[in-house]
Amino acid sequence: MSKRQPKWLDNAVFYEIYPQSFNDTNADGIGDLQGIIEKLDYIKELGCNAIWINPCFDSPFNDAGYDVRDYKKVAPRYGTNEDLKRVFDEAHKRDMHVLLDLVPGHTSVEHPWFKESMKPEKNEYTDRFVWTDHVFMDTKGMNTLRAISDRDGCAVLNFFSSQPALNYGFYKQEEPWQQGMDDPGPEATRLAIQDVMRFWLKMGCDGFRVDMAAWCVKNDDENRTGNIYFWNKVGKFLDEEFPDAAMVSEWGNPDQSLQGGFHMDFQLMGQGTNYEDLFRCDEPYFSSRGKGNFKAYAERYNKSVAATEGKGLICIPSGNHDIDRLARRLKGNELKMAFAFLLSMPGAPFIYYGDEIGMNYVEGLISKEGGYQRTGSRTPMQWDDGLNDGFSTADPKDLYIKMDDAPDRPNVKAQMADPSSLWNEVRRLIKIRKENVALRSKAKVEFLETGYPLVLKRSCKEQAITVIINPTNEEKTVDVHGTIIYACGSAKLENGKCHVGAGTAVFIEN
Ligand code: NOJ
Ligand code: CA
Repeated sequence: MSKRQPKWLDNAVFYEIYPQSFNDTNADGIGDLQGIIEKLDYIKELGCNAIWINPCFDSPFNDAGYDVRDYKKVAPRYGTNEDLKRVFDEAHKRDMHVLLDLVPGHTSVEHPWFKESMKPEKNEYTDRFVWTDHVFMDTKGMNTLRAISDRDGCAVLNFFSSQPALNYGFYKQEEPWQQGMDDPGPEATRLAIQDVMRFWLKMGCDGFRVDMAAWCVKNDDENRTGNIYFWNKVGKFLDEEFPDAAMVSEWGNPDQSLQGGFHMDFQLMGQGTNYEDLFRCDEPYFSSRGKGNFKAYAERYNKSVAATEGKGLICIPSGNHDIDRLARRLKGNELKMAFAFLLSMPGAPFIYYGDEIGMNYVEGLISKEGGYQRTGSRTPMQWDDGLNDGFSTADPKDLYIKMDDAPDRPNVKAQMADPSSLWNEVRRLIKIRKENVALRSKAKVEFLETGYPLVLKRSCKEQAITVIINPTNEEKTVDVHGTIIYACGSAKLENGKCHVGAGTAVFIEN
């Protein structure tokens, strides 16, 4: 099936905003939509031209908003639907695009659909969720809620025990209560979610990051045939009604997700994913120790490219609200090396708020809203050296999550003023990426050297650029011709040899 590719993705660089922790404008200790609006110029100055906002919908916040109670209503703590519309409008005025977070797999137990579905009498919502057909049964390892109402069945869970799974049917139906993907219940659920998408797209949003996209259809085969089938239906709806809207999946295997309706997939690395971890393992590739392993990553990446050629973008995030901050394993100049990689690879890069200044993963915090160990990656943005680092004027004890209190913690103001800061390097990298077509989303990549230094070549019909990244403590020499168009560190190119200093990244136009 051919798929439309929204043109704006060709040169998109995303910024992920965890709204709770970004910018508080009414001193209640929690970030808000007005806070996002006030920082759009900041995001634009950094060079990002698109944002993804984590769920900002009405919710009891058992999972930071991934437990939606009303898909069509902004959570009052962030503002109103009108405020969200203003986010879209203000972003568009600045040529920026906005993705919301769609949580199609489950709702909160407090969602009215679930409350209706719990009733023993048959109604419109009886089949909106996945229910077994009686309470006293072996649920074969499936997590369920049971005996929560008079309905004689167990409700299948998706994630936490407050998140019952919406019913999109089963790829392999093995029990009488498991419905097929095209049955009326699952079809009605799909239409209900499309209705939610339509609601926000009409208001001006530009698409969605889609939560747990690979797990909507249950009992799938190993190729996720059922979920691909499902998302192609949703993709068709978008193609027909909102041809410029984009969807990025939380799936983790672009070989599969890009066969469905998705335009982008996150390449999540490490444990439980398909990719070697370059950032969050004991020996990250970009550490100056120079003991990382890029080869296995490159092989896997090449396989994904072969499997998905032209179907969509493989997107590398600097981090996100679920994983450790980049700065947990990499420090100082090493972070610049990691960003040189992130911002010279194909796909649309995603920068997690605060990673552009190297915010810390804060150890030892008490869990907030189902964050558990993820809480340390969700602390308030550090804007300046004032009260609460400029995040909020609330009493520090009333903040959503307490500030990082490391004495050497970074902040935006200081880094903007320092030409040698990570912030300024990230800004230069985004600028050079946007100015050179061979560095953008769709130009191809070849890995020429996967030891140290890393040598990769980006090319398209108009241009070719060799990217050399040497995170180690030793100078390296690479045979290459052309002109240096960007360098971070010390690099000299003469007589077909590039001398790449310790901790240096250099881009050469060939
Ligand atoms: C993935 C989200 O990124 C995460 O924060 C959430 O807890 C789960 N999905 C469940 O929705
Ligand atoms: Ca607020």
